[in-house]
Amino acid sequence: MPSDQQPEETTYFIDAENVAEMARLAHQDRLLTKEMGGLFPPQLDLSTIHNVLDIGCGPGGWVLDVAQAHPIISVTGIDISHIMAHVLDCSVGMEAHTSQYQNTMTFLKLIQPFLLKMNMAKKEELDALYKQVPIEMNSDEYCSLWYYLSVWSEKPI
Ligand SMILES: C[S@@+](CC[C@H](N)C(=O)[O-])C[C@H]1O[C@@H](n2cnc3c(N)ncnc32)[C@H](O)[C@@H]1O
Repeated sequence: MPSDQQPEETTYFIDAENVAEMARLAHQDRLLTKEMGGLFPPQLDLSTIHNVLDIGCGPGGWVLDVAQAHPIISVTGIDISHIMAHVLDCSVGMEAHTSQYQNTMTFLKLIQPFLLKMNMAKKEELDALYKQVPIEMNSDEYCSLWYYLSVWSEKPI
């Protein structure tokens, strides 16, 4: 949003830009889908559904799940919050988890020579970390949200 614009007035009772609320919604969405027994009510004839609009989609977990499970359905999610649409749920079991895990392991390997050269950690500590990360990132309790932010500006002259 350009800096000279004011955020829109909203009557929504929760701060829609709050990161903790975003994390809560991402968790709640998975619980609700699980408890409902699926993405749609079982009595719904999905062959008649071509377009779905989720108004107030939050972080968009349900929208992404529908898009993945039903590629033939065109699904769109919109939300009043500016940050919700830029978050990616990388928790265990989510599609983005695998790439986040692989990226993390690659990053941890590549950053090691720099950390050693800067005396920021000992080799044994980094090796221990490299062994611990797969255990934690692949445990059933692992939850993670990645927030993507693009900022455009001009380089100072
Ligand atoms: C209770 S959350 C539900 C999120 C998601 N549908 C779910 O089930 O996890 C309600 C969402 O509606 C959004 N919202 C509130 N007022 C809105 C509005 N006027 N237009 C679009 N989204 C709105 C909020 O930012 C929030 O993400």
